[in-house]
Amino acid sequence: MQFEPGDRRRVLPRHLRREPAPEVFSYAIRPARSGDLPHVREIYNHFVSNSAVTLDEKRSSIPYWRDKLALLDRLQLPFLVAVSPTGAVLGYALAQPWAGKNAYRYTVEDSIYLGPGAGGKGLGAALLHALIEACERRGIREMVAVISDRGAEASIRLHARLGFVEAGRMAGVGRKFGRDLGTVYMKRALRPVRRRTLIPGLRRH
Ligand SMILES: CC(C)(COP(=O)(O)OP(=O)(O)OC[C@H]1O[C@@H](n2cnc3c(N)ncnc32)[C@H](O)[C@@H]1OP(=O)(O)O)[C@@H](O)C(=O)NCCC(=O)NCCS
Repeated sequence: MQFEPGDRRRVLPRHLRREPAPEVFSYAIRPARSGDLPHVREIYNHFVSNSAVTLDEKRSSIPYWRDKLALLDRLQLPFLVAVSPTGAVLGYALAQPWAGKNAYRYTVEDSIYLGPGAGGKGLGAALLHALIEACERRGIREMVAVISDRGAEASIRLHARLGFVEAGRMAGVGRKFGRDLGTVYMKRALRPVRRRTLIPGLRRH
């Protein structure tokens, strides 16, 4: 049968149409390198400028990220990126000391951000899971998430799904875009695989 231009029958009936191939979302998770930092910075700065999920108001610089990478490297704490098969940075997760005083040395605070188009596909959970495992291998015992109480519902749900429980809230401690912001604290006990004496570089007080 031949179809003429304008012939409405040229659209195949639904049961004869080929199903579109399912979209495959592939990525690898690996430690961050200095070449990733411009992409990490872009991902983070997008949320600094356009959302209240971070209480930072000032866009971050490359030296800021270089210092962060060097610090976490020195402390042997994980800074992970998820990359696409073509090498594009899709998102990152890192763990940094929860507080500077020495007795907090087994506790870290996590930070996790995905780039445009990478959300809602399980990548956040994969990155956070990898971060938790890396911290457990380093003997860390507790992970804390400090989450904005406005617009960060996905983060709260992600952390809850990975076993974090709410540990408290502080309303009105921040102000961004002319509105008061608070923080939600969530915490998860880790299962360290070996005892760690001290995060190197954290001095005793
Ligand atoms: C938080 C983030 C890492 C989550 O990663 P993700 O791979 O997109 O996670 P998911 O799509 O699996 O979503 C996690 C949960 O939040 C839910 N969710 C997503 N968007 C939501 C929204 N706008 N409102 C309410 N819930 C939402 C999902 O349904 C899912 O819930 P479930 O576990 O019950 O199914 C990602 O959304 C992100 O980068 N957000 C912006 C940065 C940010 O907030 N970082 C955390 C700072 S503390």
